[in-house]
Amino acid sequence: MSKESKFSERVLSGVQPTGGLHLGNYLGAIKNFVPLQQKFESLFCVVDLHAITVWQEPSELVSKKCEVAAAFIASGIDPKKSIIFNQSQVPEHTQLSWILNCVARIGWLNRMTQFKDKAGKNRENVSVGLYTYPVLMASDILIYKATHVPVGEDQKQHLELARDIVLKFNNDFKREVFPLPKPIIMDNAARIMSLRDGTKKMSKSDISEYSRIMLTDTDDEIAKKIKKAKTDAMPLPGTKKELENMPEALNLLTIYSACQDEEFDLVFDKYHGKNFSELKIDLIDVVINKISPIREEMSRLTTDKKYLREILDVGSSRAKKIAADVLKEVYEVTGLNSNI
Ligand code: TYM
Repeated sequence: MSKESKFSERVLSGVQPTGGLHLGNYLGAIKNFVPLQQKFESLFCVVDLHAITVWQEPSELVSKKCEVAAAFIASGIDPKKSIIFNQSQVPEHTQLSWILNCVARIGWLNRMTQFKDKAGKNRENVSVGLYTYPVLMASDILIYKATHVPVGEDQKQHLELARDIVLKFNNDFKREVFPLPKPIIMDNAARIMSLRDGTKKMSKSDISEYSRIMLTDTDDEIAKKIKKAKTDAMPLPGTKKELENMPEALNLLTIYSACQDEEFDLVFDKYHGKNFSELKIDLIDVVINKISPIREEMSRLTTDKKYLREILDVGSSRAKKIAADVLKEVYEVTGLNSNI
């Protein structure tokens, strides 16, 4: 760990500055970053290099990066404690990425379901970056020798790839250079689903705005989206077993439980057998109580560009110190060092 750190383990996670942040990003990832800062040296990264694997309008990318940094801080990540930074400002990520590209196997990348989903039928025409995206993600983690990676469930397969890369790298070079990173996936909100279809993940790319609640939504917008959320004609079921076939009900109860930090079973006990309208009325309050202070703080922070730039600059130079040491070690181990 870095000399200044009192911790023996390190957390790293990243969020893409694309299309705004939704409740799934918050409940599945960002909210869980906050308590980890007390236990681990923590780095939270705005992954702009991942964002450009699909086309980004340069001027919009800048404001989206500010939005993610603001969301981190507004959600309770303390920039004095944690390192908040911008991926592209620490070139060691991409330097390591090339080396890891030479370790990872094409067969491993061919199995990545997120690439298959994102590329769809357009496979021949998507960027090479979209294909090698998980290798860059492994570099984000390994350039800090991170031991723990908090993510939503959709990133689990990418984490497994990072672990495969560690095993092969350490084995090929006969040195335990990298620790095996462990995913931290919260079981209560690992996969927040679309409000329009409980079998689909809440996502930035869904064409329906009613499928997701954004961290920038007004209270009225939140209320409208929850009122319109898809539900069943019958009341909420009496048993948890029946919930398995009612994905929309399960999702609304999950959102309630995660926003309120209340055990899922207690929430279920409160609403089982009741009409969806009763749950929705309470859920509107619960979501607004959670999101509106974050939205207000994000809006304040995004107008203070000077402050955000300072946070990101300080974060990048703290991150760079750790990354440079690890890259040096990797260069030595792989024979890429300058001593000939
Ligand atoms: P991204 O930007 O798509 O999402 C950021 C985080 O939000 C989680 N998430 C969700 N969790 C629950 N329910 C949902 N519906 C939902 N949608 C998104 C994601 O799992 C993620 O934790 N590849 C990553 C970014 C990344 C990264 C890294 C993460 C780049 N480098 C290194 C960890 C470590 C991504 O695209 O996340």
